[in-house]
Amino acid sequence: MRTVAFIGAGSFGTALGTVLASKGYRINVYDIDQEHLANVERDMENKRYLPGVKLSGDYHFCKTGEEALKGAEFAIFALPAQHLRAALEQHVPFLEDDTIVMNISKGIELKTLRRMSEIVSEFIDLNRYVCLAGPSHAEQVGAGVPTCVSVASKNKEAALAARDLFSTNKFKVYYNPDMCGIEIAGAVKNVMALGSGIISGLGYGENTSAALIARGVAEMQRLGVAMGGKPETFIGLAAVGDMIVTCMSEDSRNFQCGKLIGSGMDPIEARDSIGMVVEGMFTAEALHELQDKYNVELPISEAIYEVIHGTTTVQEAMDKLFTWDRVEELNAF
Ligand SMILES: NC(=O)c1ccc[n+]([C@@H]2O[C@H](COP(=O)([O-])OP(=O)(O)OC[C@H]3O[C@@H](n4cnc5c(N)ncnc54)[C@H](O)[C@@H]3O)[C@@H](O)[C@H]2O)c1
Repeated sequence: MRTVAFIGAGSFGTALGTVLASKGYRINVYDIDQEHLANVERDMENKRYLPGVKLSGDYHFCKTGEEALKGAEFAIFALPAQHLRAALEQHVPFLEDDTIVMNISKGIELKTLRRMSEIVSEFIDLNRYVCLAGPSHAEQVGAGVPTCVSVASKNKEAALAARDLFSTNKFKVYYNPDMCGIEIAGAVKNVMALGSGIISGLGYGENTSAALIARGVAEMQRLGVAMGGKPETFIGLAAVGDMIVTCMSEDSRNFQCGKLIGSGMDPIEARDSIGMVVEGMFTAEALHELQDKYNVELPISEAIYEVIHGTTTVQEAMDKLFTWDRVEELNAF
């Protein structure tokens, strides 16, 4: 029996688990919140993070990461970006030598400003590491909506193994060697989703949202290329693809949080009312620092950062963006 371990039983880990369970894999799940995990096991449904999706297949709910990782061909870290380091510290000692490690978090570590793979490289050889990104709302993956994602790895064989692991006639996996570009795209789009939600909360229409998506992609490309990513990645699934889904869908927590802010709610109150991780709020902090470190202009991200910190109102932020003096569209750098 081929075994896949999930470290984290949140929305996306649970949704990806349904894809693999439907292919007959043994699914070992560990979550730091054992009460939550016990509820998932009892209900065979993740009512907290993925309600409405019944789990069926060879599931094993584990008391420890060590138990979950035993005999696992793949170990999938499926938790918020700011928790990845702690989870690696805790679980890497129990990885078997040939287990491929995957990560689905989208973000940048605060304080170190490290990308997810840079954190992972402190613990394991990146030749056994694959990241997965792209337009894939958990709710829709769990419902079996046809979905395409990208995987990136330093080691093409590991990436192709991950592709084979997940591929079904409803879940298609592309390989992209540009880990840096994919990680920056995934991180920045959560900030743009906050912006798109703000636009919706203000009552503006698709013209404004589309402008944010297009200029947001330019912004993520500017930063991603400065950090070593490839420009082409930003027209792919993990960049423009994920921007569209996250900026246009009410399923996105970042969008929902932005919408509350745009409707006049205090940003921290809005974040807390979502009740689940709003990655864009953390990533906005990191982008504020990265723009100086890499000497790139990130006006939309910065406007959102200022709104989150209460130093600018949403209306002032809109005015500032509309009077920003850049008008040469193709002069992205
Ligand atoms: N939700 C989505 O649709 C989606 C899609 C693609 C990518 N992502 C990304 O995936 C990441 C996780 O998002 P999510 O929505 O699944 O999160 P979530 O908030 O739904 O759940 C995270 C889970 O991780 C658990 N956890 C935290 N620290 C842990 C640890 N040290 N060990 C074990 N478990 C731990 C929590 O208890 C929780 O159950 C985020 O970076 C997000 O951007 C989410």
